[in-house]
Amino acid sequence: MKKRRTIVIIIILLLIIFSSIFIFVKSKDVRITFKKNIKIEINEKVYDVDYVKSLKNGKIKGKKIIDTSKLGKKKVQIVITDSFKRDKKYYYDVMIIDTKKPNIEYKKEIVITLGDEVDLLNGVVVTDNSNEDIKATIEGEYDLKKAGVYKLFYVAKDKSGNESKEEFVLKVNEKSKEKVTVSNPDSSFTTSKGFRGYTKNGLTYIDGYLVANKTYSLPSTYNPGLDSKTLQQANIMFSEAKKEGLNIYLSSGFRSYNTQKNLYNNYVARDGQASADTYSARPGHSEHQTGLAFDVNQVNSSFDNSNEAKWLSNNCYKYGFILRYPKGKTNETGYQYESWHFRYVGTDLASKLYNGGNWITMESYFGITSKYD
Ligand code: DAL
Ligand code: ZN
Repeated sequence: MKKRRTIVIIIILLLIIFSSIFIFVKSKDVRITFKKNIKIEINEKVYDVDYVKSLKNGKIKGKKIIDTSKLGKKKVQIVITDSFKRDKKYYYDVMIIDTKKPNIEYKKEIVITLGDEVDLLNGVVVTDNSNEDIKATIEGEYDLKKAGVYKLFYVAKDKSGNESKEEFVLKVNEKSKEKVTVSNPDSSFTTSKGFRGYTKNGLTYIDGYLVANKTYSLPSTYNPGLDSKTLQQANIMFSEAKKEGLNIYLSSGFRSYNTQKNLYNNYVARDGQASADTYSARPGHSEHQTGLAFDVNQVNSSFDNSNEAKWLSNNCYKYGFILRYPKGKTNETGYQYESWHFRYVGTDLASKLYNGGNWITMESYFGITSKYD
């Protein structure tokens, strides 16, 4: 009887011990929770530990980067070392998504000249967080054969439908005659200042600029009319002057060979040839026949001290014009001072010849003469 009681007590004690051990071990179980609805941008650098919300009775065994290179659902494994130094694997789901737009590197303005070829996608670089190879496309209409300003867009779209759209402007400029490339010249030479000169069809170009003076003539048949760019720039210049209360207007633009012939002959008849040659060009030698030159306002010395003349001398270079026959440069240009005569050469050369207000002549700059032979 006593023996039986002892056995029962032992069994009860054992049960108590075992259940205590069980409860103890259970209480040391790893308890881990993860964040919900985890969304990760593609190729974002994140760690498996970043999404653990709570952890008890365990330690994370090293942190690992999650491979986020592929879109879609992904199982992430995390290893936890429990209180008894045992490693256990846990899993949670994440969603790899792409909500970021591609980035487009581009130029906001592309300027070309009529007749130029252009690849509008050249230099345009698209990058995206997805590392996809994305090509930009162009949206909008333009015509390389028509001068104008075209508002266009670069568009880039990734596989997830994220789209970037960036505006840029394409300017197609009129072909300018200010500086030309002479192909197949009839002859060539180098000036005393080292510039290349070319002649073609009776015209002389120095460093690409058409030159007409006492040395270099134009054929009598050369009849281009007033250059459209020259007129366009002149009108811009006149309207800018107007804003400052100045009245500048064109008084003589293009002059044909025959017009110049009549004009010159009249001056010779009036003043004699030697005198006429100091202020009027012989036919075929007038810059007015190039279509790139014009006179403004009063075509005589009464214009010299006007506010208009002063403004022009100080500002015309900004519009691409030069004061062609400056004061005190008769031995270079071959002509007396003309405060009213301007020549279009474009802003590059005009800025150089302006020389901070101390005008340099084309003759001196290029190293050429202006003398009848
Ligand atoms: N007055 C300028 C020199 C011309 O006749 O062209
Ligand atoms: Zn003139």
